[in-house]
Amino acid sequence: MTKMIKVSIKNLYKIFGPAPQTALEFAKQGVEKNELMEKHGHVMGLKDINVDMKDGDITVIMGLSGSGKSTLIRHFNRLIEPTDGQILIDGVDVMTLSDDDLRKMRQTDMSMVFQKFALLPHKTVLENAGTALRIRGISANEADVEAIKWLDRVGLSGFENHYPSQLSGGMQQRVGIARALTSNAAVMLMDEAFSALDPLIRTDMQDLLLELQKELHKTIIFISHDLDEALKLADHLVILKDGEVIQQGEPQAILLNPADPYIENFVSDINRARVLRVRSVMHPLAEPSIKTVGQVDYNDTLESVISHSDGDTNKVYQVMKDEQAIGTICMKDLVRALVPRTPSDEGTQAA
Ligand SMILES: Nc1ncnc2c1ncn2[C@@H]1O[C@H](COP(=O)(O)OP(=O)(O)OP(=O)(O)O)[C@@H](O)[C@H]1O
Ligand SMILES: [Mg+2]
Repeated sequence: MTKMIKVSIKNLYKIFGPAPQTALEFAKQGVEKNELMEKHGHVMGLKDINVDMKDGDITVIMGLSGSGKSTLIRHFNRLIEPTDGQILIDGVDVMTLSDDDLRKMRQTDMSMVFQKFALLPHKTVLENAGTALRIRGISANEADVEAIKWLDRVGLSGFENHYPSQLSGGMQQRVGIARALTSNAAVMLMDEAFSALDPLIRTDMQDLLLELQKELHKTIIFISHDLDEALKLADHLVILKDGEVIQQGEPQAILLNPADPYIENFVSDINRARVLRVRSVMHPLAEPSIKTVGQVDYNDTLESVISHSDGDTNKVYQVMKDEQAIGTICMKDLVRALVPRTPSDEGTQAA
């Protein structure tokens, strides 16, 4: 089944400064971020961004501080306006929306989960979770029924009448997620939603999000500066640098084929055995002549295959998906995939 495109960004530019339209012309002629600042006094926030985000996917936007992640996500509900280009939601350009339609879109089609939780301190957990529905004019009773359902789903049953300050950071962010889910918006925007949490709590929250997503199939746009988090969550990974997309695609494919030295550097510290999956390294369509010594699942990590193999690099396994054989994986290929490509490998052969 092919997924529909939910959010589409086309040729998007954002330039900050006194005369953005003039600076835009320079940017389109190829003036880089540094020069635009030094010679023309403008900040290149975003440059010619083109990204399609599919319905039901988690798209992770990743990049270092200042790369333009927040600037990009704020365009989706027009918290900021583009200097040039289009933002299409379900095919509709958000710039063409009337004030009324824009308000409706913000209230019903999109929800946000913030890094600093942004809960209302004088409202209870229950009231916080039901905020979006109450704003929409739904009765308090109905809003409470929905809010109670989602608070339970994120593990906060029994805390409905507590106040945010009585909860730990992890619990407060669970309220943030329950609030987004209660709003029943199809698109969830999450800007560094887990970055303020302790590592173990952060892992729990990532697992919770993935578990919810298995049922809910929301369109989630998740911003992160953490590659491990991005690789764990992303169906589609977009890497920004200085306001430009320098690579995007399926995360495993980016890890195996980084487009340039910046990304090679970015991915060089990753525990590849734990992140890479059999499906990314296998050969499709098994040759009948190859002798296999057992079966592995196409979604197994390479680490788990290594532990099956006893370190024997001559072994070949049959790869299974839904009880069907779909290919083979050789330990030799697996070991090769564990070594990252480095810039110096380009065009050279091992001696
Ligand atoms: N209102 C503004 N006026 C001028 N420059 C801005 C404005 N907002 C953002 N910028 C600049 O645009 C660039 C991108 O900023 P942005 O906040 O989107 O980065 P980010 O990737 O979200 O960073 P972080 O990880 O620190 O949150 C930066 O160079 C920033 O200084
Ligand atoms: Mg930011």
